Amino acid sequence: MARIIGGVATTHVPAIGNAIAKGLQKDPYWKPFFSGFDYVHQWLAREKPDVMVIFYNDHGLNFFLDKMPTFAVGAAQEYRNEDEGWGIPVSRAATGIPELSWHIINRLVADEFDIVMCQEMLVDHAVTIPMALMWPGADWPVKIVPISINTVQHPLPSPGRCLKLGRAVGRAIESYDKNLKVMVAGTGGLSHQLDGERAGFINKEFDQLCLDRIVSDPDALTQYSIHDLVELSGAQGVELLNWIAMRGALTGKVSQAHRNYHIPISNTAAATIVLDNQALAQRQAA
Ligand code: DHB
Ligand code: FE
Repeated sequence: MARIIGGVATTHVPAIGNAIAKGLQKDPYWKPFFSGFDYVHQWLAREKPDVMVIFYNDHGLNFFLDKMPTFAVGAAQEYRNEDEGWGIPVSRAATGIPELSWHIINRLVADEFDIVMCQEMLVDHAVTIPMALMWPGADWPVKIVPISINTVQHPLPSPGRCLKLGRAVGRAIESYDKNLKVMVAGTGGLSHQLDGERAGFINKEFDQLCLDRIVSDPDALTQYSIHDLVELSGAQGVELLNWIAMRGALTGKVSQAHRNYHIPISNTAAATIVLDNQALAQRQAA
């Protein structure tokens, strides 16, 4: 059976793409952020996941305001990137695993999540930047199942709904009848606001609370409405929904292996966490 080994969540600020292209990882502005990935690289080298199920939000590359699914699951052989207008290099494509995608889609619909299924899907910086951070300079050794959550066009799904989606995805992965090591990812956040009167808004205290709750008490985050999140975390800080879904997909005993928080990268409070997921069977055997 497929096994969920753990989760990684990270900010996906596009400017990271330029920093990578220019080799600025050790530059004083960037070092505190990039050095937060040293542990992630060790973890990935040790755990060697086969597949990454990645919760993210599309910012207008594949879905635009005219047609915006609340939840969409990719079922493609390959996911290409295109020029998004951020002035960053176009990324290599990510490889899909349609058979697992369809298994997850079937389980989600049976579980009453009426998702959009996408046999063609471009992926934007919210997928490509985290992958470039996780596997720098190397071929990407995982196949992906991209799951997009609308964090752009209101009304947005609630934190509680996203936690339930994550849990349903976790159950779906665990019922997949192939011997695969699966990691889960969530991208975006933490607090940031790119436009309007509060452009540049960051809330360190709320970010720290969210990081704590993501690890040990994700249900506590369901008390916030979307409008609470916009107020506390910024208009784009609602990308936290992707982190909540990631956490929901970790079905076992979860522990924090790593956390990095640095303010700011571009307009964003940058954070990276690694969570281990110990399944019941592993715990019993230990
Ligand atoms: C920035 C952050 C984002 O999450 C994003 O999608 C685009 C830009 C930023 O801080 O520049
Ligand atoms: Fe974003």
